[in-house]
Amino acid sequence: MTFDINNIRNDFPILQRKVHNRPFVYFDNAATTQKPLKVIERMDKVYRETNSNIHRGVHYLSDITTNDFEAARETVRNFINARHDHEIIFTPGTTAGINLVAYTLGEKVIRRGDEIIISAIEHHANIVPWQMLCERKKAKLRVIPMNDNGELLLEEYRKLLSPRTRIVAVTHVANSIGTVNPVKQIIEIAHSQGVPVLIDGAQAIQHLRVDVQELDADFYVFSGHKMYGPTGIGVLYGKEGILEEIPPYQTGGEMVDQVSFEKTTFNSLPFKFEAGTPNYIGAIGMGAAMEYLKEKGLDEIAAYEKDLLEYGTRRLSEIEGLYLFGRAKEKIGVLSFVLKGIHPYDAGMIIDKHGIAVRTGNHCAQPIMERFGIGGTVRASLAFYNTRKEIDRLCEAVEKVKEMFS
Ligand code: ALA
Repeated sequence: MTFDINNIRNDFPILQRKVHNRPFVYFDNAATTQKPLKVIERMDKVYRETNSNIHRGVHYLSDITTNDFEAARETVRNFINARHDHEIIFTPGTTAGINLVAYTLGEKVIRRGDEIIISAIEHHANIVPWQMLCERKKAKLRVIPMNDNGELLLEEYRKLLSPRTRIVAVTHVANSIGTVNPVKQIIEIAHSQGVPVLIDGAQAIQHLRVDVQELDADFYVFSGHKMYGPTGIGVLYGKEGILEEIPPYQTGGEMVDQVSFEKTTFNSLPFKFEAGTPNYIGAIGMGAAMEYLKEKGLDEIAAYEKDLLEYGTRRLSEIEGLYLFGRAKEKIGVLSFVLKGIHPYDAGMIIDKHGIAVRTGNHCAQPIMERFGIGGTVRASLAFYNTRKEIDRLCEAVEKVKEMFS
Protein backbone atom coordinates (compact mmCIF):
# COMPACT_ATOMS: atom_id res chain seq x y z
CA MET A 1 0.00 0.00 0.00
CA THR A 2 1.27 3.47 -0.83
CA PHE A 3 0.01 5.32 2.27
CA ASP A 4 3.06 7.02 3.69
CA ILE A 5 2.46 10.40 5.31
CA ASN A 6 5.78 11.94 4.20
CA ASN A 7 5.25 10.93 0.59
CA ILE A 8 1.69 12.15 0.77
CA ARG A 9 2.71 15.58 2.04
CA ASN A 10 5.22 15.86 -0.78
CA ASP A 11 2.40 15.33 -3.26
CA PHE A 12 0.84 18.67 -2.22
CA PRO A 13 3.03 21.62 -3.27
CA ILE A 14 1.15 24.17 -1.13
CA LEU A 15 1.95 22.27 2.07
CA GLN A 16 5.63 23.11 1.56
CA ARG A 17 5.08 26.86 1.88
CA LYS A 18 5.33 29.12 4.90
CA VAL A 19 2.68 31.47 6.25
CA HIS A 20 3.68 34.30 8.57
CA ASN A 21 7.16 32.86 8.38
CA ARG A 22 6.16 29.53 9.88
CA PRO A 23 5.56 26.15 8.27
CA PHE A 24 2.01 26.26 6.97
CA VAL A 25 -0.64 24.18 8.76
CA TYR A 26 -3.87 23.84 6.82
CA PHE A 27 -6.88 22.93 8.96
CA ASP A 28 -9.63 24.38 6.76
CA ASN A 29 -10.24 21.25 4.74
CA ALA A 30 -14.02 21.27 5.13
CA ALA A 31 -14.04 24.61 3.29
CA THR A 32 -11.78 23.36 0.52
CA THR A 33 -8.95 20.86 0.21
CA GLN A 34 -5.49 21.33 -1.26
CA LYS A 35 -4.59 19.76 -4.59
CA PRO A 36 -2.02 17.04 -5.28
CA LEU A 37 0.39 17.48 -8.17
CA LYS A 38 -1.39 14.71 -10.08
CA VAL A 39 -4.51 16.87 -10.30
CA ILE A 40 -2.65 20.08 -11.11
CA GLU A 41 -0.55 18.37 -13.78
CA ARG A 42 -3.50 16.57 -15.33
CA MET A 43 -5.37 19.83 -15.85
CA ASP A 44 -2.24 21.63 -16.99
CA LYS A 45 -1.74 18.89 -19.61
CA VAL A 46 -5.19 19.49 -21.08
CA TYR A 47 -4.63 23.25 -21.26
CA ARG A 48 -1.21 22.78 -22.86
CA GLU A 49 -1.83 19.86 -25.17
CA THR A 50 -5.42 18.92 -25.95
CA ASN A 51 -7.84 21.72 -25.04
CA SER A 52 -10.91 21.82 -27.30
CA ASN A 53 -14.62 22.06 -26.62
CA ILE A 54 -16.27 18.68 -26.15
CA HIS A 55 -19.10 16.87 -27.95
CA ARG A 56 -19.03 19.51 -30.68
CA GLY A 57 -16.08 19.16 -33.02
CA VAL A 58 -15.17 16.42 -35.44
CA HIS A 59 -11.57 17.47 -35.14
CA TYR A 60 -8.73 15.58 -33.51
CA LEU A 61 -8.35 17.50 -30.25
CA SER A 62 -12.08 17.77 -29.64
CA ASP A 63 -12.24 14.02 -29.90
CA ILE A 64 -9.44 13.51 -27.37
CA THR A 65 -10.93 15.96 -24.86
CA THR A 66 -14.42 14.49 -25.28
CA ASN A 67 -13.03 11.03 -24.58
CA ASP A 68 -11.15 12.30 -21.52
CA PHE A 69 -14.30 14.01 -20.22
CA GLU A 70 -16.39 10.86 -20.68
CA ALA A 71 -13.61 8.78 -19.09
CA ALA A 72 -13.86 11.09 -16.05
CA ARG A 73 -17.60 10.33 -15.92
CA GLU A 74 -16.76 6.62 -15.83
CA THR A 75 -14.18 7.27 -13.06
CA VAL A 76 -16.89 9.00 -11.01
CA ARG A 77 -19.35 6.18 -11.70
CA ASN A 78 -16.86 3.66 -10.49
CA PHE A 79 -15.87 5.79 -7.44
CA ILE A 80 -19.44 5.93 -6.11
CA ASN A 81 -20.50 2.59 -7.63
CA ALA A 82 -23.39 3.97 -9.67
CA ARG A 83 -25.06 1.53 -12.02
CA HIS A 84 -24.73 3.65 -15.19
CA ASP A 85 -22.45 6.40 -16.52
CA HIS A 86 -25.49 8.42 -17.53
CA GLU A 87 -26.58 8.66 -13.91
CA ILE A 88 -23.58 10.95 -13.34
CA ILE A 89 -24.43 14.58 -14.07
CA PHE A 90 -21.58 17.09 -13.93
CA THR A 91 -22.58 20.28 -12.11
CA PRO A 92 -20.67 23.32 -10.83
CA GLY A 93 -20.81 21.84 -7.30
CA THR A 94 -22.96 20.58 -4.44
CA THR A 95 -25.09 23.72 -4.16
CA ALA A 96 -25.86 23.63 -7.88
CA GLY A 97 -26.83 19.95 -7.62
CA ILE A 98 -29.27 20.59 -4.77
CA ASN A 99 -30.79 23.55 -6.61
CA LEU A 100 -31.17 21.41 -9.72
CA VAL A 101 -33.21 18.83 -7.79
CA ALA A 102 -35.25 21.48 -5.95
CA TYR A 103 -36.19 23.12 -9.26
CA THR A 104 -36.93 19.93 -11.19
CA LEU A 105 -38.19 17.20 -8.87
CA GLY A 106 -39.47 19.95 -6.56
CA GLU A 107 -41.49 21.69 -9.25
CA LYS A 108 -42.85 18.37 -10.43
CA VAL A 109 -43.97 16.78 -7.18
CA ILE A 110 -44.62 19.53 -4.62
CA ARG A 111 -48.15 20.91 -4.22
CA ARG A 112 -49.71 23.27 -1.65
CA GLY A 113 -49.63 21.69 1.83
CA ASP A 114 -47.00 19.06 0.93
CA GLU A 115 -43.98 18.55 3.17
CA ILE A 116 -40.21 18.36 2.71
CA ILE A 117 -38.01 16.96 5.46
CA ILE A 118 -34.48 18.18 6.14
CA SER A 119 -32.44 17.98 9.36
CA ALA A 120 -31.17 20.25 12.11
CA ILE A 121 -27.55 19.86 11.03
CA GLU A 122 -27.74 20.98 7.42
CA HIS A 123 -25.48 23.46 5.66
CA HIS A 124 -27.44 26.46 4.32
CA ALA A 125 -27.11 24.94 0.82
CA ASN A 126 -29.38 22.09 1.89
CA ILE A 127 -31.85 24.39 3.66
CA VAL A 128 -32.46 27.45 1.51
CA PRO A 129 -33.31 25.77 -1.85
CA TRP A 130 -36.01 23.71 -0.05
CA GLN A 131 -37.23 26.69 1.92
CA MET A 132 -37.66 28.69 -1.28
CA LEU A 133 -39.41 25.76 -2.95
CA CYS A 134 -41.79 25.65 0.02
CA GLU A 135 -42.47 29.37 -0.36
CA ARG A 136 -43.16 29.00 -4.08
CA LYS A 137 -45.52 26.08 -3.54
CA LYS A 138 -46.99 26.94 -0.12
CA ALA A 139 -45.50 23.72 1.20
CA LYS A 140 -43.99 23.04 4.65
CA LEU A 141 -40.41 22.42 5.68
CA ARG A 142 -40.08 19.91 8.53
CA VAL A 143 -36.81 19.50 10.44
CA ILE A 144 -35.42 16.33 12.08
CA PRO A 145 -34.13 17.43 15.50
CA MET A 146 -30.80 16.41 17.05
CA ASN A 147 -29.49 15.68 20.54
CA ASP A 148 -26.77 17.64 22.37
CA ASN A 149 -24.05 15.46 20.82
CA GLY A 150 -25.17 16.51 17.35
CA GLU A 151 -26.86 13.21 16.43
CA LEU A 152 -30.19 13.12 14.62
CA LEU A 153 -33.17 11.68 16.47
CA LEU A 154 -34.45 8.93 14.20
CA GLU A 155 -37.60 8.31 16.21
CA GLU A 156 -38.56 11.95 15.69
CA TYR A 157 -37.81 11.54 11.99
CA ARG A 158 -40.20 8.59 11.77
CA LYS A 159 -42.89 10.75 13.36
CA LEU A 160 -42.27 13.60 10.91
CA LEU A 161 -42.87 11.40 7.87
CA SER A 162 -46.47 11.78 6.79
CA PRO A 163 -48.61 11.05 3.75
CA ARG A 164 -47.78 14.64 2.68
CA THR A 165 -43.99 14.08 2.70
CA ARG A 166 -42.68 14.31 -0.85
CA ILE A 167 -38.88 14.70 -0.46
CA VAL A 168 -36.28 14.02 2.23
CA ALA A 169 -32.96 15.90 1.91
CA VAL A 170 -30.26 15.17 4.49
CA THR A 171 -26.53 15.64 4.72
CA HIS A 172 -24.29 12.58 4.94
CA VAL A 173 -21.76 14.43 7.14
CA ALA A 174 -22.32 17.73 8.97
CA ASN A 175 -19.82 20.38 7.85
CA SER A 176 -19.90 22.29 11.14
CA ILE A 177 -19.43 19.43 13.63
CA GLY A 178 -18.54 16.32 11.63
CA THR A 179 -21.48 14.04 12.55
CA VAL A 180 -21.87 11.10 10.16
CA ASN A 181 -25.59 10.54 9.72
CA PRO A 182 -27.05 7.01 9.38
CA VAL A 183 -28.10 7.83 5.83
CA LYS A 184 -28.76 4.25 4.78
CA GLN A 185 -31.34 3.96 7.53
CA ILE A 186 -32.76 7.43 6.78
CA ILE A 187 -33.22 6.38 3.14
CA GLU A 188 -34.78 3.03 4.09
CA ILE A 189 -37.32 4.76 6.33
CA ALA A 190 -38.25 7.29 3.60
CA HIS A 191 -38.52 4.55 0.97
CA SER A 192 -40.88 2.56 3.17
CA GLN A 193 -43.28 5.48 2.58
CA GLY A 194 -42.34 5.81 -1.11
CA VAL A 195 -40.46 9.12 -0.58
CA PRO A 196 -37.29 9.88 -2.58
CA VAL A 197 -34.13 11.03 -0.76
CA LEU A 198 -31.34 13.43 -1.67
CA ILE A 199 -28.08 13.05 0.22
CA ASP A 200 -25.67 16.00 0.46
CA GLY A 201 -22.31 14.27 0.28
CA ALA A 202 -20.11 17.40 0.20
CA GLN A 203 -18.36 16.48 3.44
CA ALA A 204 -18.53 12.70 3.09
CA ILE A 205 -17.07 11.84 -0.29
CA GLN A 206 -13.49 12.74 0.75
CA HIS A 207 -13.63 10.72 3.99
CA LEU A 208 -15.92 7.72 3.55
CA ARG A 209 -16.38 5.00 0.97
CA VAL A 210 -19.63 5.94 -0.76
CA ASP A 211 -21.66 3.31 -2.60
CA VAL A 212 -24.85 4.88 -3.97
CA GLN A 213 -26.37 1.51 -4.84
CA GLU A 214 -25.79 0.14 -1.36
CA LEU A 215 -27.23 3.32 0.17
CA ASP A 216 -30.06 3.18 -2.35
CA ALA A 217 -29.90 7.02 -2.57
CA ASP A 218 -32.15 8.59 -5.17
CA PHE A 219 -29.80 11.58 -5.45
CA TYR A 220 -26.28 12.05 -4.11
CA VAL A 221 -24.45 15.36 -4.60
CA PHE A 222 -20.89 16.50 -3.95
CA SER A 223 -18.15 18.92 -5.05
CA GLY A 224 -14.75 18.32 -6.62
CA HIS A 225 -12.86 20.95 -4.64
CA LYS A 226 -13.60 19.34 -1.28
CA MET A 227 -12.11 16.05 -2.46
CA TYR A 228 -8.70 17.33 -3.62
CA GLY A 229 -10.00 18.23 -7.07
CA PRO A 230 -10.61 21.59 -8.74
CA THR A 231 -13.23 24.21 -7.94
CA GLY A 232 -16.31 24.79 -10.10
CA ILE A 233 -17.07 21.12 -10.71
CA GLY A 234 -19.30 18.69 -8.86
CA VAL A 235 -21.57 15.73 -9.35
CA LEU A 236 -25.25 15.06 -9.12
CA TYR A 237 -25.84 11.33 -9.07
CA GLY A 238 -29.45 10.39 -9.70
CA LYS A 239 -31.12 7.05 -10.30
CA GLU A 240 -31.84 6.60 -13.97
CA GLY A 241 -35.62 6.26 -13.52
CA ILE A 242 -36.06 9.47 -11.56
CA LEU A 243 -33.68 11.47 -13.80
CA GLU A 244 -35.71 10.34 -16.82
CA GLU A 245 -38.92 11.52 -15.20
CA ILE A 246 -37.94 14.98 -14.01
CA PRO A 247 -37.86 17.94 -16.40
CA PRO A 248 -34.62 19.65 -17.50
CA TYR A 249 -33.22 22.47 -15.36
CA GLN A 250 -31.12 24.98 -17.27
CA THR A 251 -31.57 25.04 -21.01
CA GLY A 252 -29.34 25.77 -23.99
CA GLY A 253 -26.37 24.09 -25.67
CA GLU A 254 -25.77 20.38 -25.48
CA MET A 255 -28.97 19.55 -23.58
CA VAL A 256 -31.23 19.82 -26.61
CA ASP A 257 -32.09 17.27 -29.26
CA GLN A 258 -34.04 19.29 -31.85
CA VAL A 259 -34.81 23.00 -31.72
CA SER A 260 -37.29 24.90 -33.84
CA PHE A 261 -39.11 28.13 -33.00
CA GLU A 262 -42.21 26.05 -32.35
CA LYS A 263 -40.77 23.32 -30.14
CA THR A 264 -37.64 21.92 -28.55
CA THR A 265 -36.98 18.30 -27.68
CA PHE A 266 -34.32 17.35 -25.18
CA ASN A 267 -31.20 15.22 -25.29
CA SER A 268 -30.94 11.93 -23.41
CA LEU A 269 -29.20 11.44 -20.06
CA PRO A 270 -26.81 12.72 -18.86
CA PHE A 271 -26.72 15.57 -21.41
CA LYS A 272 -30.29 16.63 -20.65
CA PHE A 273 -28.94 18.20 -17.46
CA GLU A 274 -25.64 19.58 -18.79
CA ALA A 275 -26.61 22.82 -20.52
CA GLY A 276 -23.83 24.92 -22.05
CA THR A 277 -20.17 24.00 -22.21
CA PRO A 278 -19.53 21.82 -19.15
CA ASN A 279 -16.46 22.41 -17.01
CA TYR A 280 -14.71 19.56 -18.82
CA ILE A 281 -11.24 20.41 -17.53
CA GLY A 282 -12.67 20.46 -14.01
CA ALA A 283 -14.28 17.07 -14.59
CA ILE A 284 -11.00 15.62 -15.84
CA GLY A 285 -9.23 17.12 -12.80
CA MET A 286 -11.82 15.66 -10.44
CA GLY A 287 -11.36 12.26 -12.09
CA ALA A 288 -7.62 12.56 -11.44
CA ALA A 289 -8.33 13.37 -7.77
CA MET A 290 -10.47 10.23 -7.45
CA GLU A 291 -7.75 8.13 -9.01
CA TYR A 292 -5.23 9.65 -6.61
CA LEU A 293 -7.42 8.82 -3.60
CA LYS A 294 -7.89 5.24 -4.77
CA GLU A 295 -4.17 4.87 -5.26
CA LYS A 296 -3.55 6.00 -1.67
CA GLY A 297 -6.29 3.66 -0.42
CA LEU A 298 -9.70 4.87 0.78
CA ASP A 299 -9.64 2.58 3.82
CA GLU A 300 -6.09 3.60 4.74
CA ILE A 301 -7.09 7.27 4.47
CA ALA A 302 -10.14 6.71 6.68
CA ALA A 303 -8.09 4.83 9.31
CA TYR A 304 -5.40 7.52 9.36
CA GLU A 305 -7.99 10.31 9.70
CA LYS A 306 -9.77 8.43 12.51
CA ASP A 307 -6.55 8.25 14.47
CA LEU A 308 -5.94 11.96 13.89
CA LEU A 309 -9.45 12.84 15.04
CA GLU A 310 -9.06 10.79 18.23
CA TYR A 311 -5.70 12.42 18.94
CA GLY A 312 -7.04 15.93 18.25
CA THR A 313 -10.14 15.35 20.39
CA ARG A 314 -8.00 14.13 23.28
CA ARG A 315 -5.43 16.92 23.04
CA LEU A 316 -7.95 19.74 22.70
CA SER A 317 -10.13 18.33 25.49
CA GLU A 318 -7.16 18.66 27.84
CA ILE A 319 -7.18 22.46 27.38
CA GLU A 320 -9.00 24.22 30.19
CA GLY A 321 -11.76 26.55 29.06
CA LEU A 322 -12.05 24.85 25.64
CA TYR A 323 -15.37 23.27 24.80
CA LEU A 324 -15.74 20.94 21.82
CA PHE A 325 -19.05 20.81 19.95
CA GLY A 326 -20.09 17.71 18.04
CA ARG A 327 -19.65 14.60 20.11
CA ALA A 328 -21.41 12.14 17.86
CA LYS A 329 -20.29 8.51 18.09
CA GLU A 330 -19.89 8.45 14.32
CA LYS A 331 -17.97 11.47 13.11
CA ILE A 332 -15.21 12.53 10.75
CA GLY A 333 -12.28 14.86 11.43
CA VAL A 334 -13.93 18.11 12.42
CA LEU A 335 -12.83 19.77 15.67
CA SER A 336 -15.28 22.59 16.33
CA PHE A 337 -14.70 24.48 19.58
CA VAL A 338 -15.15 27.64 21.60
CA LEU A 339 -12.81 29.14 24.17
CA LYS A 340 -14.43 30.52 27.29
CA GLY A 341 -14.76 34.30 27.12
CA ILE A 342 -12.99 34.60 23.73
CA HIS A 343 -14.74 35.38 20.46
CA PRO A 344 -14.02 32.68 17.83
CA TYR A 345 -12.99 35.36 15.33
CA ASP A 346 -10.34 36.76 17.71
CA ALA A 347 -9.07 33.25 18.41
CA GLY A 348 -8.92 32.47 14.68
CA MET A 349 -6.95 35.64 13.93
CA ILE A 350 -4.32 34.80 16.52
CA ILE A 351 -4.13 31.16 15.45
CA ASP A 352 -3.54 32.41 11.89
CA LYS A 353 -0.53 34.43 13.09
CA HIS A 354 1.00 31.07 14.04
CA GLY A 355 0.73 29.97 10.41
CA ILE A 356 -2.33 27.81 11.08
CA ALA A 357 -5.47 28.14 8.94
CA VAL A 358 -8.75 27.41 10.74
CA ARG A 359 -12.24 28.65 9.95
CA THR A 360 -14.28 30.69 12.41
CA GLY A 361 -17.97 31.63 12.45
CA ASN A 362 -21.19 29.75 11.87
CA HIS A 363 -19.83 27.69 8.94
CA CYS A 364 -22.96 28.41 6.84
CA ALA A 365 -24.96 26.42 9.38
CA GLN A 366 -26.67 29.06 11.50
CA PRO A 367 -29.53 26.84 12.75
CA ILE A 368 -27.15 24.37 14.39
CA MET A 369 -25.27 27.21 16.09
CA GLU A 370 -28.59 28.53 17.39
CA ARG A 371 -29.46 25.06 18.64
CA PHE A 372 -26.20 25.07 20.63
CA GLY A 373 -26.88 28.64 21.78
CA ILE A 374 -23.67 30.04 20.30
CA GLY A 375 -22.82 32.46 17.50
CA GLY A 376 -20.04 30.35 16.05
CA THR A 377 -17.00 28.18 16.68
CA VAL A 378 -13.37 27.82 15.72
CA ARG A 379 -13.25 24.87 13.35
CA ALA A 380 -10.18 22.78 12.59
CA SER A 381 -11.16 20.34 9.83
CA LEU A 382 -8.70 17.57 9.09
CA ALA A 383 -7.41 15.89 5.96
CA PHE A 384 -5.17 12.87 5.49
CA TYR A 385 -2.15 15.10 4.86
CA ASN A 386 -2.37 16.56 8.39
CA THR A 387 -0.26 15.20 11.23
CA ARG A 388 -0.28 14.80 15.01
CA LYS A 389 2.55 17.34 15.14
CA GLU A 390 0.31 19.90 13.45
CA ILE A 391 -2.38 19.24 16.06
CA ASP A 392 0.24 19.88 18.75
CA ARG A 393 0.98 23.21 17.07
CA LEU A 394 -2.73 24.07 17.11
CA CYS A 395 -2.86 23.30 20.84
CA GLU A 396 0.16 25.54 21.45
CA ALA A 397 -1.48 28.34 19.47
CA VAL A 398 -4.70 27.94 21.48
CA GLU A 399 -2.70 28.25 24.71
CA LYS A 400 -1.18 31.48 23.34
CA VAL A 401 -4.69 32.80 22.57
CA LYS A 402 -5.70 32.09 26.16
CA GLU A 403 -2.59 33.85 27.49
CA MET A 404 -3.31 36.93 25.42
CA PHE A 405 -6.84 37.16 26.74
CA SER A 406 -6.10 36.28 30.36
N1 ALA B 1 -19.22 24.61 3.19
C1 ALA B 1 -17.89 24.98 3.40
C2 ALA B 1 -17.47 24.89 4.84
O1 ALA B 1 -18.03 24.17 5.61
C3 ALA B 1 -17.52 26.26 2.78
O2 ALA B 1 -16.53 25.55 5.22
